[in-house]
Amino acid sequence: MSTDPRYLAAAIRLARRHEGLTGTNPSVACVLVRDEGHGPVVVGSGVTAIGGRPHAEPLAIAEAGERARGATAYVTLEPCAHHGRTPPCAETLIDAGIARVVTAHTDPDARVSGRGHAMLRAAGIDVEAGLLGEEAAEGLSAYLIQKASKRAQVTLKLAVSADGYIGARGEGQVPVTGPVARAQSHLLRAGHHAILVGVATALEDDPMLTCRLPGLEARSPARIVLDPGGRMPLDAKLVGTANRHRTILVTGGSIASDRRAALTAAGCELMPCEIANGRIALPELLEDLAAIGIHALLVEGGAATARAFLEEGLVDRLVLFSGDRAIARPGAEMIASPLDAAMLEGFTPCETLTLGEDTMTRYTKREG
Ligand SMILES: NC(=O)c1ccc[n+]([C@@H]2O[C@H](COP(=O)([O-])OP(=O)(O)OC[C@H]3O[C@@H](n4cnc5c(N)ncnc54)[C@H](OP(=O)(O)O)[C@@H]3O)[C@@H](O)[C@H]2O)c1
Repeated sequence: MSTDPRYLAAAIRLARRHEGLTGTNPSVACVLVRDEGHGPVVVGSGVTAIGGRPHAEPLAIAEAGERARGATAYVTLEPCAHHGRTPPCAETLIDAGIARVVTAHTDPDARVSGRGHAMLRAAGIDVEAGLLGEEAAEGLSAYLIQKASKRAQVTLKLAVSADGYIGARGEGQVPVTGPVARAQSHLLRAGHHAILVGVATALEDDPMLTCRLPGLEARSPARIVLDPGGRMPLDAKLVGTANRHRTILVTGGSIASDRRAALTAAGCELMPCEIANGRIALPELLEDLAAIGIHALLVEGGAATARAFLEEGLVDRLVLFSGDRAIARPGAEMIASPLDAAMLEGFTPCETLTLGEDTMTRYTKREG
């Protein structure tokens, strides 16, 4: 129907609301639309609840009540078909008397793939699958990557000054962008399961790595530091707040027992990881993170860490904040952006926003 893209797009927007908050489940949305004689109206909507349950479909049906009967369901992902802790969503849609289902993306989960659609069709429901698939895939990408590759999705965020630098050695956090761009970067944090930095950033900047947007403080993700040599200071803000915000130190496994005890007592989790050529093996780390439910990882630098992820081809999405000011000063040891023109060639720009005096461009990895 001609209104299908409109309602499915509304569902895709709704799904973004719980991105990063639904545990190992993807954030899916369902919009129920019924024509009661005066043109189509939305009679119910739902998005996967925080933590991953209930799913979107039963929430939308509960909101619609009897008005779900004869409605069209617009769902961003194929409804599940397997009995888990709750009945399959395909069955819930059938029982509610839904007449038609329009979905954006097939579920790659082997227990569901194609079966959700088949179950609906077998019950006489008209199913249209694959509408706005690319648009929905953007929001589902962490889930899709985890299912396909068993690893966490990586978004690299970098703030680069007009003269191509990300900071100055020994000067802590050097402002590269203004407050509007910084607020946007906090919003980006809220949509991820964890933020990762190298230990030099933890040492030099002493960051909090939390989401500090008013009203979204509870959406701060876990913090992860690549610290193969156990250099993380005990008086760092990350350690001091580890009891309130999950903090994982990725180590090479050789930390003195008294330091290990002090970090653990402060609330830090130590995650020994495989070492390859003297460095933490990043592909294996991403698999380990996926295994503990961290599917959407935001890498925030610094230069060495960003370069390591870029050189290993592990960056799926890139978010580049470009400052409008030059920051180099005579006498300062400037840190150049790790992102050179050849690396940028590997990504396709998909959106540029003006944020005050600065810009933010989102890129996705170029396939093939
Ligand atoms: N503008 C921005 O977007 C931005 C963002 C973050 C930071 N920064 C700036 O960047 C600077 C710090 O950057 P940096 O390049 O010096 O350091 P960094 O990337 O923060 O940390 C590098 C350290 O992390 C560990 N590490 C990183 N990758 C590893 C791997 N694959 N395996 C094992 N260990 C790994 C190593 O620790 P060991 O040496 O102990 O082995 C390495 O020396 C700071 O000045 C900060 O202000 C800028």
